Amino acid sequence: SITTSWASSPLNQAPASSLLRPRASTFRVAVLGAGGGIGQPLSLLIKMSPLVSSLNLYDIANVRGIAADLSHCNSPCRVAGFSGAAELARCLSGADVVIIPAGVPRKPGMTRDDLFTINASIVKTLVEAVADLAPTALIHIISNPVNSTVPIAAEVLKQKGVYDPRKLFGVTTLDVVRANTFLAQKKNLRLVDVDVPVIGGHAGTTILPLLSKARPATVLTGDEVEELTARIQNGGTEVVEAKAGAGSATLSMAYAAARFLESSLRGLDGDQEVYECAYVQSALTELPFFASRVKLGRKGVEAAVPADLQGLSGFEERALEALKPELRASIDKGLAFVRKEE
Ligand code: NAD
Ligand code: LMR
Repeated sequence: SITTSWASSPLNQAPASSLLRPRASTFRVAVLGAGGGIGQPLSLLIKMSPLVSSLNLYDIANVRGIAADLSHCNSPCRVAGFSGAAELARCLSGADVVIIPAGVPRKPGMTRDDLFTINASIVKTLVEAVADLAPTALIHIISNPVNSTVPIAAEVLKQKGVYDPRKLFGVTTLDVVRANTFLAQKKNLRLVDVDVPVIGGHAGTTILPLLSKARPATVLTGDEVEELTARIQNGGTEVVEAKAGAGSATLSMAYAAARFLESSLRGLDGDQEVYECAYVQSALTELPFFASRVKLGRKGVEAAVPADLQGLSGFEERALEALKPELRASIDKGLAFVRKEE
């Protein structure tokens, strides 16, 4: 049958030919932390995807009601809920992609790194289970601080002997979504045309939008570049402050994570020319983990896109050098957390 997906909106950059080709496969997805602010709307968006045949929802809180609720939507994907650690194994069994938004969100005045104390252990425990029960699945980490939680996941998978760097992702799609939105607003562009690569990491100044590489090519003054870069870097804080203690971005994050899942599944399904920015193990710089555009394929990351880092503006060159110490420290903090618990 011919399938189109919720993400086949013009915002998704896929060539129309690939979106309309008959699908060979559908996939099984598990969401860990499915009862939360991100988990619920994300699960709804996944339930709408024709690429997903089975959606397993897991949380330490009760998710049976959420699963029952979603299961009444008349889209083909089967939904099941799994609550509490005893049910995690059944949730993960057979998953092709595991998405992890479990953990606490920021309140005003906090940095993402302030979440490390709680979220590092949550991610470590969940990834240990993924290593045991779904060792070949793609893993999409949303839980903050992403700059550290992805190295934590990599180290856990290594210790378990199942690490495949092509399959582990920190989800930075929200930075791209924000960059596209803010640039389009600022320059009165049609949103469907706009695509801004965002590199580095996912916290403060480690988030580096490459406005010089934006499509369509857009002339910006130095002041405009600085203002837009700061707004993109502070997008998360903008939402945290507006929510005034009630958490951080959930709906835009769910939208971004659903887009990233859809692209990953199109890659797994054999579509060509699927590109997204993501925080992955990387050889593009001297840092072991780095966000950049990557080509997605049947086994996850096929290749990073080095061209994005060539011919940067002076502003971007300086910002790239300036972000490296903080990003390195966050990576080292994540790796040390797992190594000391060995
Ligand atoms: P939330 O508190 O609304 O939901 C988190 C859910 O995780 C809750 O339902 C909770 O019960 C569950 N949970 C906690 N410990 C668990 C465990 N051990 N196993 C399974 N589930 C567990 O928070 P939220 O707003 O959904 O945010 C979740 C995380 O996502 C936060 O760390 C936040 O900082 C991060 N986040 C990342 C991005 C990004 O761009 N990567 C964007 C927004 C939020
Ligand atoms: C975001 O970018 O919205 C998330 O990382 C959540 C946060 O704490 O800002």
